[in-house]
Amino acid sequence: MASSEITSTCEKALYPFGEFSRFVVHELPEYNQKEEYAKGISASNGLIPSFEDVLEVVYDQPFLVRIRAMGDLGMFLVSSELGQTSVSQDIISRLKVLAASAGVAPRDTYSSYVNYNPVEALRTFTGNKSEVNFIRQLQQSDEAIRPAAEKLLLLKKNPFHENRIKFLEETVSCVNMLKQESRTVHQTVDPAFFFKCFRHYFFPIQIGGQEYSAPSAVHLANLIVVDIVTGTASESHLQLIHSLFPYFEPKNKFRIVQAMSRPSLKEHYLEANHLDELSLLDEIYQSLIEYRLTHQGIVNRYIRKQDPDVKYGTGGFPFDSFLQELIEMVKVSREDIHRYVKK
Ligand code: HEM
Repeated sequence: MASSEITSTCEKALYPFGEFSRFVVHELPEYNQKEEYAKGISASNGLIPSFEDVLEVVYDQPFLVRIRAMGDLGMFLVSSELGQTSVSQDIISRLKVLAASAGVAPRDTYSSYVNYNPVEALRTFTGNKSEVNFIRQLQQSDEAIRPAAEKLLLLKKNPFHENRIKFLEETVSCVNMLKQESRTVHQTVDPAFFFKCFRHYFFPIQIGGQEYSAPSAVHLANLIVVDIVTGTASESHLQLIHSLFPYFEPKNKFRIVQAMSRPSLKEHYLEANHLDELSLLDEIYQSLIEYRLTHQGIVNRYIRKQDPDVKYGTGGFPFDSFLQELIEMVKVSREDIHRYVKK
């Protein structure tokens, strides 16, 4: 490939809609930070991509570019909704075309905000360094837990794989790493700024009569795979995971479906009376509980202490009971193992 072609491919990957994408990355956040949403939208001044531009992305660009294109339109849509401007319908119709081709909900998603958000042209709502650090922290947390999901999916196919002990030990380390990474938020993200300035970016919006959630760590597919394959996910949690399917990119929908086939590793190892494996599962559960307790501490500082009256998280859940139930769910799995080992 000639060097000019390489440059234009890189440019397209970073800014799928050219000037419009540049506006969303470099200019819109300043208006958002000042809460001048309508002014920001009118400053975009005719940059909204045409349907031909959208179709070019749909037909000619790889998945990563389509997801970033959706992120740009989705973030613009949020500002447009907050500014009560009339451009929302134009954006929604374009998002729907892209959504059908990418296989995700028709807005900005966890994939565009976290997984495929490029360092060189980071998409933020406010541009503030607290938000930049928040995104990096989510990216690093996701990276920390990813190897565990990969190893567990291998074990899912072959629970008695010759490297099973190594894979389970690696999973314990990954969950511990997830805990460390999440905790770093305390040093890098300002709680007051989070609460006052960019939390409102994360609320659901109505698209075509249906409500769609904003990017949320509730959509962290790698942790979901860990919960399901190790056997902690309760029936009600599995149902909740099903309701989140529109937000997972196709690869993760597939991995979660793979993870969901029974039996879980817990059931396999209980059945086979494999005590070393059960003891490692127990360690994984303990680490998951510690991670979730750490996360509750984050929620306490970033939401509860900012406003004690807030009951619902941006994912739409009554977070006190929601997060506590997830801890109780893992405890139930620990008890299953303890009861068996005592027999
Ligand atoms: C300012 C920092 C953070 C706040 C205020 C926060 C808040 C919340 C809230 C309120 C929920 C409940 C669901 C809902 O939104 O309604 C939630 C869920 C969740 N959050 Fe966070 N969070 C933060 C940072 C993080 C980080 C850095 C991670 C790391 C991956 C993370 C991972 C999760 C996960 C995985 C869930 C789903 C519940 C679970 O599986 O335990 N959060 N978060």
